Amino acid sequence: MTSPADVAAFHREFDRHPDDRVRLFAAVRELVPGGADAAVLYPGSYVDIGPSVWFDDVTYVDLDKRAARFFATTGQVADLVAAKRAAVGRRQGDPTGIAFHHADYADELPIEDGSIDLLVSLYAGFISEHCTRYVRPGGLLVANNSHGDASMASLDPANELVAVVRSVDGGYRATTADPDRDLRPKRGHHPTVDELHQLGRGIAYTRPAFAYVFRRSDGPGARS
Ligand SMILES: C[S@@+](CC[C@H](N)C(=O)[O-])C[C@H]1O[C@@H](n2cnc3c(N)ncnc32)[C@H](O)[C@@H]1O
Repeated sequence: MTSPADVAAFHREFDRHPDDRVRLFAAVRELVPGGADAAVLYPGSYVDIGPSVWFDDVTYVDLDKRAARFFATTGQVADLVAAKRAAVGRRQGDPTGIAFHHADYADELPIEDGSIDLLVSLYAGFISEHCTRYVRPGGLLVANNSHGDASMASLDPANELVAVVRSVDGGYRATTADPDRDLRPKRGHHPTVDELHQLGRGIAYTRPAFAYVFRRSDGPGARS
């Protein structure tokens, strides 16, 4: 991966549903305090640069060597982000506000605790268990439930479910959530932390959503 064309082709190969994540983060950004200036942390990102289309300060973390090689081509990644911003009509902002750590998100990351406005957890394990410490009080977690992280996050009393994100007309829409309605198990009871670890994936809910948005409080009962 050396030339700009190589980098763009590599990214296109990953982006099987072109810019689906750009549309996801378009829906989520409306909820994030600080808007485009918010500090975003995306562990297990692989090469999903969707958040950088809407946010100017995004830190990506992944163990995969291909992700490390991709993000090392900083100028070319910034060009890709700029092109995607232009495609959605966003011309302001700095497309170079991108950091990458080639690391295990379960290890201590060089990020200050309580400094992140939006933590992203998509298809990459129980990120909330390891990375919630970096989220500031009032900050958000957006998690899907493929690997169970939305279920895991819902068990933490310091996380309040504030919105669900559903696929609508080829895009996404975030709507106000009601935990009793949106996190009602289809079968059985709410899983425990141990049960989720054993299961390694989320449970089914009666009204499934693509993603769940939690707001972090600093009230009593916070696990991390
Ligand atoms: C299925 S991909 C999802 C990528 C991206 N979040 C998306 O939704 O397109 C999972 C990614 O998480 C990364 N990953 C899994 N466990 C990790 C860990 N403990 N630390 C860092 N990255 C991890 C993998 O290397 C892989 O790139």
